[in-house]
Amino acid sequence: MPRAVAALARAGADVTCAVAPRDAAAARGSDTVSRTVVVPDPTSAQHVLAALARDGLPLRAFTAVCSVLEYCIVPAQILDDLRRATPRTPADRGGTGGEPRAPRILAMRDKALQKTLVRRAGLPVADCTVTEHPETIEVPPAAPRTVLKPLDGGGARNTFLITGPESLHAAVTALRADGPGPWLLEEYIPGTEFQVDGIVRDGRLLVLSVSRYVQNLIEIHDGGVVAHIVLPPARHTALYTAARALTSAALEALAYSDGPFHLEMFQDGERLVFGECAARVGGGRTDDVVRLAFGVDLREEWARTVLGRPSALTKEPAHAPGTVFAGMNLPAPPGTVHRIPSHEQTLARPGVVHAAIEVAPGDLMPDITAASHLRAGLAVVRGTTETQTETRVKDLARWFHTHTVCAPHPPAGPAPKAAP
Ligand SMILES: Nc1ncnc2c1ncn2[C@@H]1O[C@H](COP(=O)(O)OP(=O)(O)OP(=O)(O)O)[C@@H](O)[C@H]1O
Ligand SMILES: [Mg+2]
Repeated sequence: MPRAVAALARAGADVTCAVAPRDAAAARGSDTVSRTVVVPDPTSAQHVLAALARDGLPLRAFTAVCSVLEYCIVPAQILDDLRRATPRTPADRGGTGGEPRAPRILAMRDKALQKTLVRRAGLPVADCTVTEHPETIEVPPAAPRTVLKPLDGGGARNTFLITGPESLHAAVTALRADGPGPWLLEEYIPGTEFQVDGIVRDGRLLVLSVSRYVQNLIEIHDGGVVAHIVLPPARHTALYTAARALTSAALEALAYSDGPFHLEMFQDGERLVFGECAARVGGGRTDDVVRLAFGVDLREEWARTVLGRPSALTKEPAHAPGTVFAGMNLPAPPGTVHRIPSHEQTLARPGVVHAAIEVAPGDLMPDITAASHLRAGLAVVRGTTETQTETRVKDLARWFHTHTVCAPHPPAGPAPKAAP
């Protein structure tokens, strides 16, 4: 995550990165990384600890252990707890100590635990149960719709809408092929889906950005566009007021009082329903979109939190007038890439202010209907109204997909694991 490392380096930190072998060259080649330790799996606290020990780097030599990667957040917190509990000198028995934070941050990761705490606080949230035997779920013909998904999934991967015995059977077959479970069975929440991004410090919301997904993320499995449009607060005052109340109460229920958050919610008629919440900056180009719309650098604020510094914000940032920004995935068909629009061609499309093309001719393009983080690239689009921005997003998605030529895939292997 070069942007996160760069934010820490700008804040004056000397950064050691624990990375998987595939990221080693990039980390070693980066100006902002001081030291790199290579581990088989950076989501394993054991692997990271062992690599530090091999390199003679004691945990107590560090100021903080942190991550912005969804699957590394809890292991990083476990190591940070251990760091704080480690005596700095032989005479110092207790270390700098304090309450361990990992058990709390777990609620920002485990979908079942999270919903239990949010429900207990009285907030609207889908009913859910953990199941090891989804094939035994009864689906009578007129049963309400449900969602079956991995307990700690990401990118809407293997997230299935169950409408009857047939869709249940297809979901169970796919889930069983992917792993041993257990899985989460949830009440289906209808309505429009939103992402809410921001910063909380000392339990106070300092930044709040509400974006509407152009299509609910579950629709990626049917070829849906992955894009979110930041809604200007002045045009959505009631929604912002309700989103602020829901977010505040949810973060309090989750005991998450300091850092960036990325929350998902549904608008079901008049009511807002909590979806889920992560303790990180949102995926894709959420950072760019929020910076353009509100003038706030979420990663800068994340780095300040990690280093125990106060926020740089003196008042809640205002939305840039007369603009509506969106962040989106650039879609492409699966297969070996033969031809793909260039960066310049993409930037020349109406309203495009940023574009990053992530695959090149010869690369293998994955099936993007499997997970929302699979894409050919990312773009940020600007318009003057929500309707114009939405039209531009849809046109760009269609244009990019049509102008990317791929040879059909070789026989499919297992899809890559989600890494939102
Ligand atoms: N109970 C539900 N009711 C309606 N839609 C749901 C429900 N659960 C999940 N979805 C849909 O599936 C998507 C993925 O589910 P969820 O957010 O739980 O998992 P995820 O894989 O962590 O997603 P991401 O990493 O993209 O945030 C949601 O964004 C939403 O569109
Ligand atoms: Mg989600």
